[in-house]
Amino acid sequence: MTDSARPRTFDDFVFGSATAAYQIEGGAAEGGRTPSIWDTYSHTPGATEYGDTGDVADDHYHRWPEDVEHIAALGLDAYRLSISWSRVQPGGTGELNPEGVAFYVDLLDALNAAGVQPLVTLYHWDLPQELEDAGGWPARQTAEAFGEYARLMAVALGDRVHTWTTLNEPWCSAYLGYASGVHAPGRTEPAAALAAVHHLNLAHGLAVRAIRDVLGAQARVSVTLNFHVIRPLDPDSAADRDAVDRIDALGNGAFTGPMLEGAYPARLAGDTATVTDWGFVRDGDLDVIHQPLTALGVNYYATTMVRHSDVADEVSDNSGHRESDHTPWIGAREVAFVREPGPYTAMGWNIDAGALTGLLIDLSHRYPNLPTMVTENGAAFDDEVSPDGRVRDVRRVSYLHDHIAAVAAARDAGADVRGYFAWSLLDNFEWAWGYSRRFGIIRVDYDTLERRWKDSAHWYRRLIERRELPAVDDVEPMPRTPGS
Ligand code: FCB
Repeated sequence: MTDSARPRTFDDFVFGSATAAYQIEGGAAEGGRTPSIWDTYSHTPGATEYGDTGDVADDHYHRWPEDVEHIAALGLDAYRLSISWSRVQPGGTGELNPEGVAFYVDLLDALNAAGVQPLVTLYHWDLPQELEDAGGWPARQTAEAFGEYARLMAVALGDRVHTWTTLNEPWCSAYLGYASGVHAPGRTEPAAALAAVHHLNLAHGLAVRAIRDVLGAQARVSVTLNFHVIRPLDPDSAADRDAVDRIDALGNGAFTGPMLEGAYPARLAGDTATVTDWGFVRDGDLDVIHQPLTALGVNYYATTMVRHSDVADEVSDNSGHRESDHTPWIGAREVAFVREPGPYTAMGWNIDAGALTGLLIDLSHRYPNLPTMVTENGAAFDDEVSPDGRVRDVRRVSYLHDHIAAVAAARDAGADVRGYFAWSLLDNFEWAWGYSRRFGIIRVDYDTLERRWKDSAHWYRRLIERRELPAVDDVEPMPRTPGS
């Protein structure tokens, strides 16, 4: 593939990279941190590939100064990280843990000193275990605890944080954590999963309010959702289009509805009536959830295709998450998932950059005053280190190239997209897949914990420096590159 003849410029645009606490930090039992649901889950036999856990992960807890050097050397405008709730507030309630807070203060100070804007996610799936023991996300008090945690973080970290993100992909927290059970805490209780949906939404609203109470109305606050781009197998089939609408309501509208429009999608209650009566939604909750946001975070990896099925329980999960006998798609009766055409990444996810353009344009039409940021996009491939030490991850370079071009196309079409964050800065603990799936632009050797720039990192650095898409073969290391 060659570069487009027309230069695509990225003025007033932020290039970053993203990570999450449990996936990179390690230091699981250090500095006063207590277990989260992912510690418990990953230590459960059979839950993760090869029994991998985040005990050590990338050892970012100790190696963060080196990682900040890589971030600075890449020239990143911004870096998206998440806070381990149980590190800063062990158990999820009560006093803050000064040692845990100091870890993030030092990290944020170093990022700001390097001229890198920190985008901080308060919740990337690592609920303190004590809160799960008390009911977890299906319980209302978890949302209340989250609001208080957000308030304490706003006080402790204040303007060190450029932009706050309340939740990362609450779809995964609710449906994979409580319905299909392939994520922590591994429960398979459909009604509980829908209660979790609502309490995650409520947690978001309480957190936005708390952050603005502390830092003022001008505080930049966002949420990151994993939008499902769903298509019908047969666009001319009304039944297939109805299957799309069902999945859209469960996968997208269950979050965008209350957060951005102040109401759940009209069909959601009916579609899930055999599971729950939604009695956990209290008067006033939707007002709390529906808060003005500075930006909407969009995580995008792949697309989904569905068709109608006459087999009542044919619903299946092709989301690329580990297999389960249970579906995350509660209430999606008579829907079958169709494998999308390839090519595929090592996750089995189909590659479709054009769908990202369409998604960003759609969102700009639906929410005209809400800028978007692509807070995650990237690909896992089976990387190899060449004898000369290079990691020639040409497929990842081409994935990033095509998706960043797709973002540029959306901007050209008028969508207000403000940034792009490559997932991920480092190879890391890919949840139930453990260390078997590598998403990093920087390779991590899990024996030595050494970091090594892949060709995609060299390419990304060049893009940021030039603010124009380099050709996919423009990957030679530049002078003074650490880790090359
Ligand atoms: C997203 C998660 C992120 C990472 C990528 C591959 O769903 O937010 O932590 O696992 O997928």
